[in-house]
Amino acid sequence: MTNQTNNIRVGLIGAGRMGSFHARLLRHFVKGADLVAIADPNLSNAQKLAKELVISTIYDKPENLINNPNIDAVVIAVPARFHAQTAIQAAQAGKAVFCEKPMALTLEDADNVIAAAEKANVVLQVGFNRRFAAGFLAAHNEILAGNIGSPQLIRSLTRDPKLNDPAPIPQWTIYYETLIHDFDTILYFNPNAKPISVYAVADALVRPDYKEKGLLDTSVVTIRFDNGAIATAEANFQALYGYDVRAEVFGSKGMVTAGDARQNNMLRFTKDGVSYDTCRMDTELLKDAYQAELTSFIDCIKYRKKTLVGGKEAKAALAIALACIESVKTGQAVNL
Ligand SMILES: NC(=O)c1ccc[n+]([C@@H]2O[C@H](COP(=O)([O-])OP(=O)(O)OC[C@H]3O[C@@H](n4cnc5c(N)ncnc54)[C@H](O)[C@@H]3O)[C@@H](O)[C@H]2O)c1
Repeated sequence: MTNQTNNIRVGLIGAGRMGSFHARLLRHFVKGADLVAIADPNLSNAQKLAKELVISTIYDKPENLINNPNIDAVVIAVPARFHAQTAIQAAQAGKAVFCEKPMALTLEDADNVIAAAEKANVVLQVGFNRRFAAGFLAAHNEILAGNIGSPQLIRSLTRDPKLNDPAPIPQWTIYYETLIHDFDTILYFNPNAKPISVYAVADALVRPDYKEKGLLDTSVVTIRFDNGAIATAEANFQALYGYDVRAEVFGSKGMVTAGDARQNNMLRFTKDGVSYDTCRMDTELLKDAYQAELTSFIDCIKYRKKTLVGGKEAKAALAIALACIESVKTGQAVNL
């Protein structure tokens, strides 16, 4: 595991669905990165991925990877409840940290992650990949350039394609793990404005039979900002037509939109009319964005640059998610 290339030596922590996807990108597509080790308490997940990607160092204890002196950076893709503690341990060991969203489940833990990264002077990036999607980035730049004037209405939505087994889904996932992307997008599209109040309604419309067990699979959130803008975020766990992520900002001088459910620009013309294919996975629709976020992470380490989406941004999106939970519990709008 010696570093003869000046590439950044990366260790993956968590070899489930998303970790495996990040690992394949790091191995095959991310310039300047060498994936050198994989850790997962479920060792068979690590072994399977290591075999596929020809990685010789695997661990069942994440701390062994974190304490390996031949690793420069970690990618954390473990279940959300372990994010903060894993990120803190990695930062304290001097590793650059890429952490999947949400960075933490409480504001206190978010502050602890930020403080650990600052103290160790390591790069900290959080997995808000939409900021790296070409259309979302272009829309952000239009807004920054003032081309749509001042934002008045902002909208962001996530519709996952299929709700498989609801049983293992932790409570409040719709805010902590799904809509948190939309909260970050809305903040990205309303730069420098502060959210002042949040109101959320939610239900189990896809699987009403799981509502009593705490499942929320559908939600609409309203966010008011100190610059007057009013935003809505919405999510549903089962869009039968495919994975659907879109956003728009309507302002005093015009509107920008971003996101498109189409798989590509092929249109099918038949006796039934005109149709197109859609993406069925987030990793398919946003593959370029996932690759770009990891490339940007590696560049930030190599060239000692500030990450485009770090702890401060992750904490801001988390604050909205927490306000949603409070709003659903109380039925009231929550002031931030
Ligand atoms: N950015 C995105 O678009 C996006 C999309 C999907 C998932 N995610 C995030 O990625 C994370 C992982 O999601 P997933 O779908 O891959 O989950 P998963 O259940 O498929 O995988 C989690 C893996 O982590 C392992 N694990 C459990 N506890 C661990 C620990 N303490 N240390 C190390 N490994 C541990 C599990 O054995 C499993 O292999 C979640 O936080 C999720 O929100 C992000």
